[in-house]
Amino acid sequence: MAKHSKLKDRKHIISEITSIISHQLKSPLSGIKSSLELILAGEVGPLVKQQREYLTLTLNQTEKLITLVKNLLDVSRIDEKRMELTIKYADLVTIVTNVIDELLPLAQAKNSAISFRAGDHIPHIHIDPIKIHQVVYNIIDNAIHYNKGKGSIDVQLVKKGKYILFSCRDQGIGISKKEASKIFTKYFRSKQVMDILTDGTGLGLFISKAIIKKSGGNIWFESKLNKGTVFYFTLPVK
Ligand SMILES: Nc1ncnc2c1ncn2[C@@H]1O[C@H](COP(=O)(O)OP(=O)(O)OP(=O)(O)O)[C@@H](O)[C@H]1O
Ligand SMILES: [Mg+2]
Repeated sequence: MAKHSKLKDRKHIISEITSIISHQLKSPLSGIKSSLELILAGEVGPLVKQQREYLTLTLNQTEKLITLVKNLLDVSRIDEKRMELTIKYADLVTIVTNVIDELLPLAQAKNSAISFRAGDHIPHIHIDPIKIHQVVYNIIDNAIHYNKGKGSIDVQLVKKGKYILFSCRDQGIGISKKEASKIFTKYFRSKQVMDILTDGTGLGLFISKAIIKKSGGNIWFESKLNKGTVFYFTLPVK
């Protein structure tokens, strides 16, 4: 019993420290990003090609750091059961369309084609649109990253009774049966992914699951190693 509560205390302290550091890092990183964007826009004078290249690289790395800090903040909120949803009456079709538009350049760079089909009469629902955007972004971003150099990604939205069902099918590296149970756990990245050495923290699906659960839905996947994966989530129509 004492051992259990000591472990709980330790987890709480780690979560607190993560939260404090992440909060402290948030504003300076946003400041760095704004300055870089200003310089790159030519607001403080013209740039030569090499300066532009280095600054673009710095901006990309800064954006990665900002995402990491945001994810760590989300994780500490989830661990402390402090995650809150800002519920609005929103359109999932628009959210998915926006995510695909944002990810199109990445998909093109990775030789992936994305198709999107939405069933007729998908109703607006009460959700936190920013957080659901985050979930859809992470699932499609994964489908693009964990493909096999080329492949199509099929995204669908259909209404099934009292739920809307989202699905994202890829033809990528797949997930082994052995690792399937760990996919939604914090910091987990599969052996296949570590072998191809792409960036990532293993937090996206952990955060996505917490968001979907809190929204009253479910999230799961079906996969065949080296053949592809389908990620699903449902959201209630109220
Ligand atoms: N579509 C997919 N195909 C194959 N493996 C996947 C797919 N989606 C997720 N995975 C596996 O699940 C792991 C966890 O995914 P998750 O999105 O949580 O983290 P990540 O993509 O590694 O990093 P990030 O926190 O930057 O999203 C991935 O590292 C990968 O091993
Ligand atoms: Mg991810």
